[in-house]
Amino acid sequence: MADTQNQLLSKHARQVIDEAIKRYPEGKQRSAVFEALRAAQHENHGYLSVELMDAVADYLKLEPIKVYEVATFYSMFETKPVGRHSISVCTNISCMLRGADEILAHVEKKLGIKLGESTPDGRCYLKREEECLAACAGGPMMMVDHKYYENLTPEKIDRILEALK
Ligand code: FES
Repeated sequence: MADTQNQLLSKHARQVIDEAIKRYPEGKQRSAVFEALRAAQHENHGYLSVELMDAVADYLKLEPIKVYEVATFYSMFETKPVGRHSISVCTNISCMLRGADEILAHVEKKLGIKLGESTPDGRCYLKREEECLAACAGGPMMMVDHKYYENLTPEKIDRILEALK
C-alpha cells in the first residue's frame, strides 16, 4: 500500500519534499507538509485528490487527518478538480468601497460561472471571494494565478480574461 501511494508522488515531488524535511529538526517532518502539498498539487492539475493527500501523509509518516487538516484549511489548496487559471476577486472593505461587488459580478458574467465554479472548457476557476489580499491601495483588485491586477474596470477585466489560454 505504502509503495503504491508513494508512486503517486513524482520523483521531483519527492525531491522537493526531501529538501523541505531537511530544513526541520529530526522527527519534525510534519513541518514539511505545506511544501509537500504544494508540490503534489502543482503536478496534479492544480488540485489534491484524497489518494494524493494519503500519499503525502504516507511519505511524511503522518496520520492522513493531519494532511487533510492543512489541505482543507489553507485557501491555496484545492481538493476538487478546477480550471487551469485560478481567479480570486477581493471583496473586502477597501475593494468593496471601490466597487468590488460590481467587479465580481462582471467577472461572473464574463465567464458565465459563479464563485467556486470552473468554466466548462476547464480554462478558468473563479476560486472565491477573497478577504484582503494586501493590495488595498490598488482596489478593486483580483489575483489571477498568483499575479495581482489592480484598479480594475470592466474593460481591464475583459482584456485580462481574454488573454488567458
Ligand atoms: S481590501 Fe482588497 S486588497 Fe485589501
